[in-house]
Amino acid sequence: MKPIEIAKGIFSVGCIDWNIRDFHGYSTNNGTTYNAYLIMDEKITLIDTVKRDFADHLIQNISRIVDPKKIDYVISNHTEMDHSSGLPRVMHKIGEDKPLYCSKMGQKNLSRHFSQKWNYNPVENGGELSIGKRTLTFLETRMLHWPDSMFTYLKEDKILFSSDAFGQHFAGLEKFDDEIGEEIMPSAKKYFANILLLYSPLILKLVEKVTEMGLALDMICPDHGIIWRKDPSKIINAYVEWSHQEPKRKALVIYDTMWHSTEMMADAIVDALGQEGVDAKPMHLRNWHRSDIITEVLDAGAIVIGSPTLNNGLFPTVSDFLTYMKGLKPKNKIGAAFGSYGWSGESVKLINNELEEMKFKVMDPGLKIQYIPDEKGLRACHELGKKIAKELPQ
Ligand code: FEO
Repeated sequence: MKPIEIAKGIFSVGCIDWNIRDFHGYSTNNGTTYNAYLIMDEKITLIDTVKRDFADHLIQNISRIVDPKKIDYVISNHTEMDHSSGLPRVMHKIGEDKPLYCSKMGQKNLSRHFSQKWNYNPVENGGELSIGKRTLTFLETRMLHWPDSMFTYLKEDKILFSSDAFGQHFAGLEKFDDEIGEEIMPSAKKYFANILLLYSPLILKLVEKVTEMGLALDMICPDHGIIWRKDPSKIINAYVEWSHQEPKRKALVIYDTMWHSTEMMADAIVDALGQEGVDAKPMHLRNWHRSDIITEVLDAGAIVIGSPTLNNGLFPTVSDFLTYMKGLKPKNKIGAAFGSYGWSGESVKLINNELEEMKFKVMDPGLKIQYIPDEKGLRACHELGKKIAKELPQ
């Protein structure tokens, strides 16, 4: 991707990673981008870098605008390696002694990643840096989503460089929200669900704080995906809605199966939920990626988990999913468990334990059926589905 002038004298100089399909365990079927921004002012300033493999591409992009050696300041909004692993190459190219601005935690974390003794300039929350005609303001956003995370706000141009927040893993030739429209929203939702969900309470506080500060926003420039310029409030409002996690009349029946018995139970539960007007679907854990399921979990009212008993325990994919979901701390859910077993039958109890730990409302002891569900067993699955439907919002 060539640099694009996103506002007078401000360039998007990052790179597109068209082919990445796994981002630390999150499926990125649309690839991603690592965005970085160059501000041409009296002090030429680079905001964020890119993943190491793309560092030369970033330098090439910068070179199309200015000799990289002329960069005066580098801002690091976030230490995670998709934005910082290109930093050594960039600093080497522009000059190891150039001032590097980051949060205090940023300095600590960057020092744990890189041995170079860079010219760190840790900034305070609300601290300002004049770069000539423009001024940058730094806003700490601790734990959104790392301790070092911060935003950089350019007040003269009303641009928020928001690091990971408001991003999307989306590789495309489109650069702005108005060039892609609604098509971007599923990627933004998936990104929120998999990366920011557990910080929902902090997001609500941050939005409140930013609203109180009365920051004018003409553009939000995240470090992944498209830039919000047509309507930056659209993504802010979406974040508020997603953070509230209001449950819908929607149920996910998430399961794995060995010889289709647990699957028969899943289908019967989904049938009953559907008959009761619930938006329900079965999700087989070897056919759905965990990160796509979590996106659906965001607004579901009921999470119904099914596992056969295997070697006195859960089927491995079910354990994998429960571990992943537990870490993301979804709220306001009803939970229920089911599964087929041969002789010992521990799976339902094990799932219930996990759901309770996640503070889900476990509204039924769960249903276990030996070997293959018969008519009576399938009727019991229907009853469970109906019972779940009664608990969901109308
Ligand atoms: Fe895009 Fe937290 O890194």
